[in-house]
Amino acid sequence: MSAFNHILLGCLLLSSSSLLAQMPARTPEQDSLIARTQRKTRADHQHMLDQLGIKELRPGVNGSNPQAPNAANYDETKANPFPKLPENLTLKNGQKVKTAKDWWNRRRPEIVEEFDREIYGRMPANTPKVQWEVVSVSDTVIGAVPTKMKKLVGHVDNSSYPDIKVDIQLSLLTPAQATQPVPVMMEFGFVFPPGFRMPAQAPTGPGWQQQLLEKGWGAAVLLPTSFQADNGAGLTEGIIGLMNKGQRRKPDDWGTLRAWAWGASRALDYFETDKDVNAKKVGIEGHSRFGKAALVAMAYEPRFAVAYISSSGEGGAKLHRRNWGEVVENVAAASEYHWMAGNFIKYAGPLGWNDLPVDSHQLIALCAPRPVFIGNGDKGDAWADARGMFMAAAAAGNVYELLGKKGLGTQELPVVETELINGDLAFRQHAGGHYPGPNWPTFIRFAERYFK
Ligand code: GCU
Repeated sequence: MSAFNHILLGCLLLSSSSLLAQMPARTPEQDSLIARTQRKTRADHQHMLDQLGIKELRPGVNGSNPQAPNAANYDETKANPFPKLPENLTLKNGQKVKTAKDWWNRRRPEIVEEFDREIYGRMPANTPKVQWEVVSVSDTVIGAVPTKMKKLVGHVDNSSYPDIKVDIQLSLLTPAQATQPVPVMMEFGFVFPPGFRMPAQAPTGPGWQQQLLEKGWGAAVLLPTSFQADNGAGLTEGIIGLMNKGQRRKPDDWGTLRAWAWGASRALDYFETDKDVNAKKVGIEGHSRFGKAALVAMAYEPRFAVAYISSSGEGGAKLHRRNWGEVVENVAAASEYHWMAGNFIKYAGPLGWNDLPVDSHQLIALCAPRPVFIGNGDKGDAWADARGMFMAAAAAGNVYELLGKKGLGTQELPVVETELINGDLAFRQHAGGHYPGPNWPTFIRFAERYFK
């Protein structure tokens, strides 16, 4: 599928995206591809509702029209209907967790099981081998830094079901003059078609890759939609479809976020074989839907050393129990349910947010003791709920402390542009909109403490 179609399909299924408005004009072929994908998505969503025995779902909130009867809430007095969060350090049998050993051996596995079953789905145990091919190595210059650029493709072993072919696309930039393996930050990359412009332009200045290369680090981009499409129609294809031999998911099967995170782990396998990379110092970064994926990757993959989770919002670092901006019901709808386990849909009818056995503070806690930076924008980024993500990070602090690390160091949301980077959990809200750029310098300062 062309790059254009990837992003098109990514955008068109959104309930509240301003991205669509930025798209160049479409051809009739593209229109019919969209229609087909939407039909297939709706059928797959309905099939999952049938499996769950759900007759009716509560609708999501409207993020683009404040006058709508179901307009998204942006009133803090109404934002916390369920202030009591599931406890990190209490076992399901009621016993308190007081030692790191009990966290690792008893409590953490309980939390993982709930996220697997109810939230992101179970990754199959026997995922196939990936054969990495270096497609090209070339010299380039980024800013003023002579840079080695590698293009890679990971060929996924599909001998179990040859009808589905899966390739992972990855690229890597490292300083050409490096004398030893370098730390690398890997981003889950969006694919934009020619002529496409991000709705809100981030301030100009050196891009994240240039900032990293100037420090002597490397930058990688993994293309998640190369191995798992960003829509429900794609659930019978890609790595999820391959594992299910082209059949539909069961309610606790993995969703797209978990599959994207799987691909990030496979990229890390490759880095372990590349002499230019210090695979002990690889960070993961993603923005928005890919911020969610980056947090899932960090939680489930202990080899990632640090993470920058940008504007991840609902389904990412934001508390599901918060009523602000996007909510559970939006993610359970046909446009986004594919990110999650089918079981997650239950919490948009018949169950409610407070029935969720875990919440996002516990996803962050699964990353402990490794450093996590959570970022967001300000006004143009309200949909992702900066405060709800800050609250989750603050509530993850007790696990970091149990493991001898430091949380955010405060329970009070700081004013915009304040850097909270002295602990092992970090937070900053930049003054702009829905983009990751302005928080990169802060994240790099945070990461450098660990990569020295
Ligand atoms: C939509 C969606 C968000 C998502 C965002 C994005 O706004 O509701 O959950 O993070 O798209 O990926 O840009």
